[in-house]
This record gives sequence, structure tokens and C-alpha cells, in this order.
Amino acid sequence: MKAMLLNGKDVAKSVRESVKHEVEALKKENIYPGLAVVLVGEDPASKVYVRNKGRTCEKLGIFSETITLPKDVSQKELNTIIDKLNHDPKFHGILVQMPLPRQLDASEIIHRIRPEKDVDGFHPENVGRLILDEEGFQPCTPAGIMEILRYYKISLEGKHAVVVGRSNIVGKPMLNMLYQKKKDANATATICHTRTQDMGAITRTADVLIVAAGVPEFVTGDMIKPGAVVIDVGMNRVDDPSTDKGYRLTGDVKFDEASEIASAITPVPGGVGPMTIAMLMVNTVKAAKFQNR
Ligand code: GUN
Repeated sequence: MKAMLLNGKDVAKSVRESVKHEVEALKKENIYPGLAVVLVGEDPASKVYVRNKGRTCEKLGIFSETITLPKDVSQKELNTIIDKLNHDPKFHGILVQMPLPRQLDASEIIHRIRPEKDVDGFHPENVGRLILDEEGFQPCTPAGIMEILRYYKISLEGKHAVVVGRSNIVGKPMLNMLYQKKKDANATATICHTRTQDMGAITRTADVLIVAAGVPEFVTGDMIKPGAVVIDVGMNRVDDPSTDKGYRLTGDVKFDEASEIASAITPVPGGVGPMTIAMLMVNTVKAAKFQNR
């Protein structure tokens, strides 16, 4: 193990502490930040995420309510609920946990949430604002990665940052944050995906490699430039009969190999994961401030 560990738990804790202070200050002005979380169906991973979001709100003094809907809820019913939340002043932020069951059109839901309450940063207005470097809501996972890099004073200026994965939630917004003409960004940014030819040839030129491939241990040691900073967004359960639980959690990077080559790396768990909820809290407070201007 040669690489320094980038501890997302520490970074998330520091973000949460500053959010907590902001919430206390807002309450003195009679502003009570509120978040509505909508969970459809019984997906076990989604249930865990949603529960953790609620608990974190509680710890930071943010009012939150989870609306749990059956997996066969119709688009019309869900639309009605979104419309109600859009008009409810108790809630400054609305989050619909993804993925949604097949009968529901995620894109329609994302368009329906008022951009001012879109604390996920998924609405096209916020996506546009991100690209234009205008004030808006930025997706929590890539925003959390930028926060980790800032916390550890890892400069992106002029570096080659490579993103693996082109999802709307991580890969695409990540790319756009990296190249922005501003302090803490200014990287040369490249995005790779399933159709990229000879991905290793590209990832080996990365000074900062951000992996959101959705494939367990997809990036191997030979795909990493010596001394690179590696950010692993993956969270996968893989069968492992040698463990008590019969499975282990692993990222999208082969950690044992990568940590011998990289200069710094995020572990899984305890790297990027804790940042997502912390940044959701940041966005919720920002929404409360914005709606009370
Ligand atoms: N599912 C996985 N990540 C996210 C996220 O950041 N927001 C929402 N709404 N759903 C998710």
C-alpha cells in the first residue's frame, strides 16, 4: 500500500458540521430547512439510502419527511404527489430516489420537480446551469468528489482528469465540473464509456482518474498511471463465501492493485459514498436560503 487514503468520512463530517451551523443560523431567522424524500417500491439498497438521508437530516436539524409509495404506483399518482410537494412551503428540497420501477418515466418526474427544489440537480435547468457555470443545484455525488479534492488540496489545474462512465447522475456532471474555468477546477477533462476503444490507453494518461463504471473492479492496476489520484465511485456487492456475510463490498477499481500504483485513492466503503448525503444536506440548506431571499 503506497497510496494515501482519501477518507470521505472525514470530509463528509466536516461538511455536515458546517451545514449544522448554517441550519442553526437560519432557524434564528425563522427559516426551517425541509426535505421531502420519495421512495417508490422495496428496493433494499434504496431503502437503506433513504433511511440514511432521513437520519442525517435529523442530526443536522433539517426537517424531513419520507413518502413511501407502493411499487405499482401510477405516473399520474406520482405526478400529483410531486405537484403537491412543489407547492408545499415546508419542503425546500424534493428528492425522488432512483431507480424507479419500470412503469414510471424518470425523465418526466425529473422535469416535473421545480428547479428551485431540485436538490438532486437532475432537472434540465440545473444541468444547463452547471454547464454554463451559473448558480444552481449540482448533483450530489460529483459535487462531493470536488469537495474531497478540495479538502485534500489536490489541484486539478491543467491536469488531465479522466471520467469512466457517462451516467446522468455521476459521469456527465462530473466531466462538466472538472473543466470549468474556475479555481479548484481548470482540468483537461475526458470521458470514457462502454464504447471507448482501448480504454487503458486513455486512463493511463489520467492524473486524476474518476471511475463510475458500475462494474465491480473494472479498473485494474495496469490501467493507472503511476502517481495518479484515483476516485472510486462504485459500490458493489460481490459474493464472497469466505466472509461471514457471504459477500463483500467493492468499488469499480481493483483496490489492492490500484493502491500500489496511485499516489492517493478513495476506499470503498468510506470514500465517495458518505459525500453524497452530505452534499444533499448542503443543497437542501441552499434551497431554503434561495426560497427565502
Ligand atoms: N440513486 C443513486 N444515487 C442517487 C442520487 O444521488 N439521487 C437520487 N434521487 N437517486 C439516486
